Amino acid sequence: MNSLPMTREDAVNLLKSMPQTDSDMNHYLETESIMRILAEKFNEDAEYWGMVGLLHDVDWSSTRDNPKEHCIKAADILKTRGFDNVFIENVQSHGYGYDGIPAFKNRKRNSKIQYALVAAETVTGVIYAYALMRGKNISDMEVKGLKKKFIDKSFAANCSRELVREIETTGLSLDEFFALSIMAVKKIKDQIGLK
Ligand SMILES: [Fe+2]
Repeated sequence: MNSLPMTREDAVNLLKSMPQTDSDMNHYLETESIMRILAEKFNEDAEYWGMVGLLHDVDWSSTRDNPKEHCIKAADILKTRGFDNVFIENVQSHGYGYDGIPAFKNRKRNSKIQYALVAAETVTGVIYAYALMRGKNISDMEVKGLKKKFIDKSFAANCSRELVREIETTGLSLDEFFALSIMAVKKIKDQIGLK
């Protein structure tokens, strides 16, 4: 069991204390939910994985206009709140390899939780866009339909397919990942404006 310096409620309040858009807040909650389900699937600590998902963009509201600082600023915010270096590295890892953050350009993700996070936080965009296209409906969304949208690179084009595919490094197939992700987002549909 990994120890966490704050409760989930504290973490949600921390995020709400910052200037968030609804869609950003939805994105944090979706990522959290997917991470929790993945942790259960892998027999890992769902509280910890969920917290990594929930707080992975903790600095986003203050770096959206300065992407070079995204994931960097997060370290200070999380350190001040008592999170340890491993937690901080897990959060920051979703920016590894990204050209927009020069300090992370050559860094590589190296653990299950890190591959899971980058895939989870990226697939949320495809799932949400697909749900919107279906009249905000996720209740009867199927893997087959999501996969079609995933293959169509012009759909939700800013969601990197390559990053989603990193889930395969964990041993999970893309189909399994989509099924779990749909289930996870469905679970919180009422909180994120879907039905
Ligand atoms: Fe994110």
